Amino acid sequence: QTPAGEDIDVYTFNNANGVELRVMTLGATLTHFFAPDAKGKLADIVLGYDTPSPYLTNSPYCGATVGRYGNRIANGRFSIDSNEYTLVTNNGQNHLHGGTVGYDKRVWDAEIIDVEGGSAVAFSLVSADGDEGYPGTLTIKAVHMLTDENEFRIDYSATTDKATVLNLTHHSYFNLSGAGDILKHMMMINAKTITAIDATSIPTGELMPVVDTPFDFTTPQAIGKRINGEHPQLKAGAGYDHNFVIDRPEGDTSLIVAAQVSDPSSGRTLEVRTTEPGVQLYTGNFLDGSITGKGGTVYNHRNGFCLETQHYPDSPNHPSFPSAQLKPGETYTHTVIYRTGTDG
Ligand code: GLA
Repeated sequence: QTPAGEDIDVYTFNNANGVELRVMTLGATLTHFFAPDAKGKLADIVLGYDTPSPYLTNSPYCGATVGRYGNRIANGRFSIDSNEYTLVTNNGQNHLHGGTVGYDKRVWDAEIIDVEGGSAVAFSLVSADGDEGYPGTLTIKAVHMLTDENEFRIDYSATTDKATVLNLTHHSYFNLSGAGDILKHMMMINAKTITAIDATSIPTGELMPVVDTPFDFTTPQAIGKRINGEHPQLKAGAGYDHNFVIDRPEGDTSLIVAAQVSDPSSGRTLEVRTTEPGVQLYTGNFLDGSITGKGGTVYNHRNGFCLETQHYPDSPNHPSFPSAQLKPGETYTHTVIYRTGTDG
């Protein structure tokens, strides 16, 4: 139960290869992801808590479904046509991850559904007109699935009754070793540019080429190799906390590889595919040992990385970015697949 006495349900999925996922209705959150290493040894590869209440009070969005707008909107302001909207500001002057009571803090409805090739639960949520300042009643579905191919798949869809903006994303912190920092993990990101940010992590509008910078992950690189360098973008993000522009034709929404990660110590791998135009690499720069997670584990600096598939941050204020608007009669869709494997 939540501290307010609302019931929370947890669903556990297992497949024939030993992969186990647990998701809960609070925040439509992934709480556990057990994946085998090359020898078949299971480890929980996501950060989280043993009980629900820290997810409400103390969580940096561990495993959550984030919305209405994942990432930042400058000064919590945007307009659609000539209507101006003001959102809750909860990250300095900016709006972050849907505000103070984002979708990560709501209890979603859930229903087990029949799917081919795995098992799934459909989470649903209705977000009221005016919720945290956003216009329009948004009706959302987020189907979370474990497939026989060791994929954790999410299919989002949403409709609105008034023009609005949205950017749903998944905020798991992965650690393919199951503990310690993620600096030796090898990361490939299918991106030739990032959306450069200012000192408050708002995009400047510049698509910065990654070539010859610490942001070039077009070939696999250890996450930690360049993370403490002098590049002004690393200083702005306190490490990697940037939107990578997935290399695909403009407007293309086919399901393609955004990133591939491998952990030399365990041999575990993770591949991320999505229909979205961007992916936020966040390397747990704000984890500082002040949080105690599952099994009493202290989450220290850079003990997890997030790959949040998304539209670009602050898109509502950047007409040159792919649009994050949704109008009545349209359906928002977004798919992400996190596939675990081994390379040993
Ligand atoms: C996102 C943001 C980060 C931080 C984390 C949560 O990845 O971009 O700046 O807010 O979420 O701590």
